[in-house]
Amino acid sequence: MYRFASTAILALATALPVAAQQTSDIIVPEPETQVTQDFPGLSDAGMAALDAKREGRPVEAENWMVSAAHPLAVEAGARVLREGGNAADAMVAVQAVLGLVEPQSSGLGGGAFLVWYDAASGELTTLDARETAPLAADPRYFLDEDGEPLNFMTAVVSGRSVGTPGTPRLMEEAHRRWGRSNWRGLFDDAIELAQDGFTVSTRMAESVAAAAESLGAFPATTDYFLPGGAPIAAGDTLVNADYAATLRQIAAHGTAAFYTGEIAADIVAATRTDDLPGLLSMGDLARYQVIERPAICYDYRGDEVCGMGPPSSGAVAIAQILGMLENFDLGQMDPQDVQTRRLMGDATRLAFADRGRYLADSDFVPVPVEGLIDRDYLASRAELLRGDDALPEVSAGTPEWDHAQIWGDDLRQERPATSHISIVDSDGNVLSMTTTIESGFGSRIFVRGFLLNNELTDFSFRTHADGWPIANRVEPGKRPRSSMSPTIVLRDGVPVLAIGSPGGATIIGFTAQTIIAHLDWGMNVQQAVMMPHLVNSFGTYQIEAETWAEELAEPLSDLGFQTNVTALTSGLHAISLGDGLQGGADPRREGIAIGE
Ligand code: GLY
Repeated sequence: MYRFASTAILALATALPVAAQQTSDIIVPEPETQVTQDFPGLSDAGMAALDAKREGRPVEAENWMVSAAHPLAVEAGARVLREGGNAADAMVAVQAVLGLVEPQSSGLGGGAFLVWYDAASGELTTLDARETAPLAADPRYFLDEDGEPLNFMTAVVSGRSVGTPGTPRLMEEAHRRWGRSNWRGLFDDAIELAQDGFTVSTRMAESVAAAAESLGAFPATTDYFLPGGAPIAAGDTLVNADYAATLRQIAAHGTAAFYTGEIAADIVAATRTDDLPGLLSMGDLARYQVIERPAICYDYRGDEVCGMGPPSSGAVAIAQILGMLENFDLGQMDPQDVQTRRLMGDATRLAFADRGRYLADSDFVPVPVEGLIDRDYLASRAELLRGDDALPEVSAGTPEWDHAQIWGDDLRQERPATSHISIVDSDGNVLSMTTTIESGFGSRIFVRGFLLNNELTDFSFRTHADGWPIANRVEPGKRPRSSMSPTIVLRDGVPVLAIGSPGGATIIGFTAQTIIAHLDWGMNVQQAVMMPHLVNSFGTYQIEAETWAEELAEPLSDLGFQTNVTALTSGLHAISLGDGLQGGADPRREGIAIGE
């Protein structure tokens, strides 16, 4: 463990240096969906959780809690916990249902990062189940014959973007290490819902409608999401018998049934699209492994904020943001004051400059993690924040490093999709897992009842910038850089908070500011996840529309920031631990927290 102490944001692209731009900088946020509908089949606890969320209250519990992006998935996890399963067991059930009822965000065809606090040993473990590039890929994977980057969306909606999925193996690995329920039974709820049909939620229906054109690219995808040519509607009952069959195979035979044999063969075949076919092979799937990595922990004002290291940039960037901001008395500052937001915005910009240069899969390139989160380095970066105005320019720093290495910058941003799960069980184990298929609906390729990811477009398409190699370039077997930030905060070695969010590159800002809201400003987890967003990943200050944050647009612009008022659809799911448990679920999505 490292221990030191919905509007296209075209303006973002124009804010970046020309060499750094590509189409992926034009980020279209996922639609916001407030919980206005009731979900048929919810338990009393589920109904009470919906009420708490509508009223802006945290859910309170004594023994266990699960918070995730869809009520039916949370119900499945709650059932496992109620019946004596633990957090690892519950995660398997939650993920299996999410892949059905929130297929646009995560599923068997994607990847994930998991942070686990083990109550018995007091140890923290982080598991990397990021998708991998095919062994047949090379750094020119996303370049055309003239050496120019492929059109971004063309690459996304193709077999070329699909990496070897990691999520099924993560479910199995977490269960193997820590689970105690019968593996088979963990899929019961998902299989039943898939076989008998589930009610399409508002969010799923809106997501399908918004993506209808690209979902029409592949017949199997069209048949499921646009039956008869029209998008499925909220309230429809949708049956996914293929998904039920896939889950039955995994339940009965483990994930070998996914990574080898007929399912693997169908995945490989599905990536051989007419345009831009992928290079995945049966060998890529068969050799896929979850990797245990050192947790990245940063001592922030006495609390240890811990998360996932490379290939995720999440924990390093959050540690950097907090490490710069600890040089200021945030606790005494007003969350709605423009100077507070200047500091937070520019600290995040500085972290993103370092991320763009240094962060990538550390199995392939050296990453100066220790130097990047060194307290003295961060104090020196914080000196840049001492003025009163926005920093006119932001560039990567020079952290201490035992490597003589110069990288080019890769300032692209991951797409804003994904899902987050937080669970605490009655033994005191804590799980924080962020799970994704990259952009909404991933590659749009639908096989065996689930969508395949487009995670490989999180790599830099270019191999070099300004003559220097880019750390996050494609290489065979490599894992693309991520922003996913599953986090557990420890106080005196004991967890006090589990948190994370979807949102592409804005995940980092969403998560960091919610941690600050809880730790520095004393908000409970529901208040913290509800707090309006102001995030500045690298260029434009994004300000959440129709909230008090809008009032800061002009003052921030007066300080020199480019600003854009827009929907900012986080999906924060958080649990605080202390005198009992409190669960928070993001009002911008459909999730809830259930506890007992
Ligand atoms: N696919 C979102 C991320 O990895 O950051």
